[in-house]
Amino acid sequence: MIAIDGVSHLFASQSRTLRQGLAAAGQRAGRTRILRTLEATLALDDVSLTIDEGELFVVMGLSGSGKSTLIRLINGLLQPQRGRVVVDGHDVAVMQKRELVAFRRDRISMVFQSFALFPHRTVGENAAFGLQIEGMNKADREARARHWLERVGLGQHMLAFPHELSGGMRQRVGLARALCVEAAIMLLDQPFSALDPITRVDLQDLLLELQSELPRTVVFVTHDFSEARRLADRMAVLEEGRVAQIGTPKAVQMVPASDHVARFIEAATLS
Ligand SMILES: Nc1ncnc2c1ncn2[C@@H]1O[C@H](COP(=O)(O)OP(=O)(O)OP(=O)(O)O)[C@@H](O)[C@H]1O
Ligand SMILES: [Mg+2]
Repeated sequence: MIAIDGVSHLFASQSRTLRQGLAAAGQRAGRTRILRTLEATLALDDVSLTIDEGELFVVMGLSGSGKSTLIRLINGLLQPQRGRVVVDGHDVAVMQKRELVAFRRDRISMVFQSFALFPHRTVGENAAFGLQIEGMNKADREARARHWLERVGLGQHMLAFPHELSGGMRQRVGLARALCVEAAIMLLDQPFSALDPITRVDLQDLLLELQSELPRTVVFVTHDFSEARRLADRMAVLEEGRVAQIGTPKAVQMVPASDHVARFIEAATLS
């Protein structure tokens, strides 16, 4: 469903340093050297991975390791500078702008860490936002929003405003909004990181339950190996923009590919 092939992405302030940085990355210069010599950040460094249809794939890594950059490449907000990103049979780089907008709207939904709800819209209107963009009529989108809000346990709060909700409830609205679109691919960028441990486990269970009913292709970003272990079919660990390891959580836990990966697992065991 998603194929990332040899993708590098560099953030540079000038086109000259961008060119030089990409060339240096091609010669395996690595993030630290490129930052020191060119003051440019190699956010992703020759990343390759594939994600199957219906798979719940976790991307784990420290802050700054490139997780959000990877998500932005999958949803077409960033264009690959090196390598190829193919999503659901579409090469993101060759899609025309209009095609890309429609593709993003119809095939992909996003859940953000920061909730990103509209403060002046009710819970129901927030959940139905993507459907309004699609041009669905009011009655249909209300019915769909009601269905998914009930599913995430917020059926009683359709008319509330975001400021009247707790963080965990807001995150449920974010999840309902993504589910409403009924897209084949769902991208979740640290959706539960700001929540208390119990609410977090509840929402993880909800996500697993929804997956068992109707598997979507899910890319789920987290810092936390215990979250990865609960959720992932397979996972990738990013380290300074590179893939340190890909495998099932069990395989990663049994044979960590590096000290860096081992420390994630150790941190999860200690917590
Ligand atoms: N728009 C940008 N301009 C310049 N540098 C950027 C930009 N976006 C990201 N970066 C840099 O690229 C690197 C990877 O960033 P990214 O946001 O992908 O990390 P992340 O793994 O999502 O981190 P976090 O867990 O903190 O969200 C970081 O060093 C960051 O500073
Ligand atoms: Mg991020």
